[in-house]
Amino acid sequence: MEEYTIIQAQALSDAVFEMWIHAPQVARNAKAGQFCIIHPDGAGERVPLTISGTEGDNIRIAFMAIGTTTKLLSTLKAGDVLRDVVGPLGCPSEISEGNETVVIVGGGVGVACTPILAEAAKKAGNYVIGIIGARTKDLLIFEDDMKELCDELYVTTDDGSYGIKGFASGPLKDLCESGRKIDKVWIIGPGMMMKVTSEVTRPYNIKTFVSLNPVMVDGTGMCGSCRVTVGGEMKFACVDGPEFDAHIVDWDDLMARQRMYMAEEKQSLEYHEEHHECRCRKVN
Ligand SMILES: Cc1cc2nc3c(=O)[nH]c(=O)nc-3n(C[C@H](O)[C@H](O)[C@H](O)COP(=O)(O)OP(=O)(O)OC[C@H]3O[C@@H](n4cnc5c(N)ncnc54)[C@H](O)[C@@H]3O)c2cc1C
Ligand code: FES
Repeated sequence: MEEYTIIQAQALSDAVFEMWIHAPQVARNAKAGQFCIIHPDGAGERVPLTISGTEGDNIRIAFMAIGTTTKLLSTLKAGDVLRDVVGPLGCPSEISEGNETVVIVGGGVGVACTPILAEAAKKAGNYVIGIIGARTKDLLIFEDDMKELCDELYVTTDDGSYGIKGFASGPLKDLCESGRKIDKVWIIGPGMMMKVTSEVTRPYNIKTFVSLNPVMVDGTGMCGSCRVTVGGEMKFACVDGPEFDAHIVDWDDLMARQRMYMAEEKQSLEYHEEHHECRCRKVN
């Protein structure tokens, strides 16, 4: 089989898509917390996406179609071939071997990162509590995977259409307040969600990791576009992260940098939508 052939592609909701891609080198070396950079065709941009899982020579990704390249990616089908898949990139999650209780919190498309993390934490002998949340029931992803992988799972929706009504921070707060032993927490989701949710664990001094998603270009520490400020120091999220200690991240800096290219992204999307017919094709 050709490298980077899409093995399976399906919509998980109106805007979220899952794919299995034949990428042997990436699949054999990927660990929880790492990501890949996908270049769908010669014309589009390269997009960093978390590796959600691996099976044999294949990797799994889940992404939200929000801009030019992710929308293009969402039109591709099983059998189509991607131009390039680079990875695994970034540092693996700091999972301890042994008897820790870990809580993995995923919000929105950030839930894409949770199955591989839950699986690795469980394999290492830890007790795994999962909390996954979405705005509404239709946007919830990977519940079955997380049910199977976690010792306990809490599901929330902002609008109460499924599971516990409210944000994913709710069950986390309850767990912290209950006095149960919690050794580590991972929070993965939109910037604001990670910022607010990580405040829950701060008073309890629980080691809390977040996976940062600044704009990345090369993903190998060369271009500097993914600069973030952590503990007052400049870091490159692609090589020093993407996971960092949540309690020392400069969130305002991260969110300002994420908005830097909004005008260009809007312009690119408008152009893409106008020329949709000719972009929606098999890439070779
Ligand atoms: C390490 C990492 C892991 C990620 N994992 C996932 C994932 O598993 N699923 C998922 O849906 N999304 C993930 N993202 C975000 C994803 O890369 C962006 O949604 C995607 O690049 C948007 O590209 P676009 O051309 O479709 O949209 P655009 O219109 O170009 O951008 C839409 C928004 O996406 C962000 N973005 C744009 N370009 C980049 C870029 N090169 N790098 C990072 N962010 C960008 C910006 O905030 C921007 O405002 C991850 C980002 C990083 C850095
Ligand atoms: S993406 Fe270029 S240095 Fe990190």
